[in-house]
Amino acid sequence: MRVRVVVAVMWVGALAGVGCNAHPASAPERAGPLPSVTTTAEEARVVFENRCVPCHGPAGGGNGPAAAVLHPPPRDLRDAAWQATVTDAQIEDIIRRGGAALGKSPFMPANPDLVARPHVVAALRARIRGLR
Ligand code: HEC
Repeated sequence: MRVRVVVAVMWVGALAGVGCNAHPASAPERAGPLPSVTTTAEEARVVFENRCVPCHGPAGGGNGPAAAVLHPPPRDLRDAAWQATVTDAQIEDIIRRGGAALGKSPFMPANPDLVARPHVVAALRARIRGLR
């Protein structure tokens, strides 16, 4: 009797394991080769130039072509004092969710498509950290 219970528990565990393996969140990572650092950095560079530079400027100084009409304007992301006040998680959060969701400027747009691309968000955050 006790053996049957143990076997049943193992079956449930095995089924749960199969369920986890089929989880969509982990599927893309297994679908192909891991992205190389170069590819991710390149992707982040393209995203930065297309989506961030218009406001934040090419070097993150807050002087992109669209910055003049923003109140408040984007801060200088190179500022070491600001860099010291934010965590990596906060930087990645505002990139994904935008300023409005976090009580900051609503002009800082959300990037919902990047939620499924954590390696690109991490590379963008690393890029911002590298501005200091
Ligand atoms: C339409 C203009 C605009 C665009 C496009 C934009 N931002 Fe922003 N961003 C802002 C503004 C305005 C703020 C809020 C003021 C500030 O804190 O700099 C901000 C804030 C931020 C902050 C947080 C600063 C803080 O105070 O903590 C980060 C990090 C950031 N942006 C990164 C990015 C990245 C990376 C991209 C591209 C994926 C991007 N932004 C695109 C305007 C923009």
